Amino acid sequence: MEKYLIIGGKKLFGEVKISPAKNACLPLIASTIMFSGEFLLQNAPKISDVIIMAKIVENLGGSFIFTDKGLLLKTFNINSYSPSKEICCKARASFFIAGALLSRFKRAIVPLPGGCNIGIRPVDVHIDAFNQLGVDCIMDKDYVKFDANKMKSGMVSLKYPSVGATVNAICACVGLMGESLISNCAKEPEIVDLCNFLNLCGAKISGIGTSLIKIEGIALNKSLKIVHRPIDDRIEAGTFIFATAVTGGEIAFKYDNVCNICSAIKTIEKMGVQTRYEKNTLYVKSKGELDATQQVADVFPAFPTDLQSPLCSVCAYANGESVIEDRVFKDRFAFVKQLNDFGVNARVLGSQAVIKGSKINNPCTEKALDLRAGAGLVIYALGAQGESQIFGVDIIRRGYENLEQKLRLLGADIQYILS
Ligand code: UD1
Repeated sequence: MEKYLIIGGKKLFGEVKISPAKNACLPLIASTIMFSGEFLLQNAPKISDVIIMAKIVENLGGSFIFTDKGLLLKTFNINSYSPSKEICCKARASFFIAGALLSRFKRAIVPLPGGCNIGIRPVDVHIDAFNQLGVDCIMDKDYVKFDANKMKSGMVSLKYPSVGATVNAICACVGLMGESLISNCAKEPEIVDLCNFLNLCGAKISGIGTSLIKIEGIALNKSLKIVHRPIDDRIEAGTFIFATAVTGGEIAFKYDNVCNICSAIKTIEKMGVQTRYEKNTLYVKSKGELDATQQVADVFPAFPTDLQSPLCSVCAYANGESVIEDRVFKDRFAFVKQLNDFGVNARVLGSQAVIKGSKINNPCTEKALDLRAGAGLVIYALGAQGESQIFGVDIIRRGYENLEQKLRLLGADIQYILS
């Protein structure tokens, strides 16, 4: 059995390296399926979600290898539009391949996705977008069958700015002759990264980073050779900021586009943590004295839902009552019940968590319920008085590269134990 053993109360000091974003890598890998080529995603983290996505490429006839430069994918020999259910059900983002498969084959059979247990995760927005492009989608219990023989460029209006549906709509339109307009798209930085990458591959996408994306279809290139560095992981950056907030200390990390983490920075500053951005580096300084906050997680540029559980842990150490609402995953509050189990005054009211913090909190013995709740547990344990045991390390490792090594280098007392 795997666990983290964390003795809390150690201040964090030093410099940490933020990895390229998992949530950028997954759509990038999915999109390579539409082309025939060789793609190096520089420094892509070798974590299980990224490996699963690369294995899907392999399952379709491509190949991948992690080198000292990053993840190298080859898609010359992709010859299948029907990936195996066994691989796809391991990651929610597996459904992101549908659009790229339709661009390449005009048909696809894609298993319904798995992934984190953070509430209902339907695919209706994806299906509706494909329908607007003229794709026939037939859904059964386990699969969606897509027939894109009548697929045409045109207008797509997303019912909700879903990240995954935006990925699928963009990938479906890149190879469609004519002009497509996708409105109400997600504006997340990972979508911007995908569009920049696709343009590097020859796509003609404009309106990048806005809610209206225009795509002029292209003939999909053969024999591409592309090198791209995915954007820095904003959720990992936020996790280290929040860990420092509860323990106290002073950390710094290089971060290229600080606008992507503005909402997390503003939130933590309001709670009493000092930050400074200079020469591409963010400096974070905390005395471990935190004020309560009110925060709403919503689509970018608002505070990200993926940092909602980590923020709840910070609130457990804040002076006063915090109220955290999640408008993206309205039921993503199982973690708050865990906090309550180990003595934090925390409760869920509808789509809000109400947390009354305390400077001193008990250690915990708990299992990570999902990836970001797992990060929340680690942050909580780093601040707690005494020894915590955190199970479900495999879930945390889906999204964090070398988390324990990085924390140890900053001075945390965290050990990985396999027994
Ligand atoms: C992506 C991220 C995930 C993040 C989420 C929201 C990846 C690999 N994952 O997930 O970490 O938490 O964005 O920022 O990038 N919805 C529907 N119908 C749909 C699609 C979505 O109702 O067809 C709902 C979802 O249930 C959820 C909300 O829309 O409540 C947001 O989902 P979406 O933006 O699609 O998230 P993902 O792309 O799955």
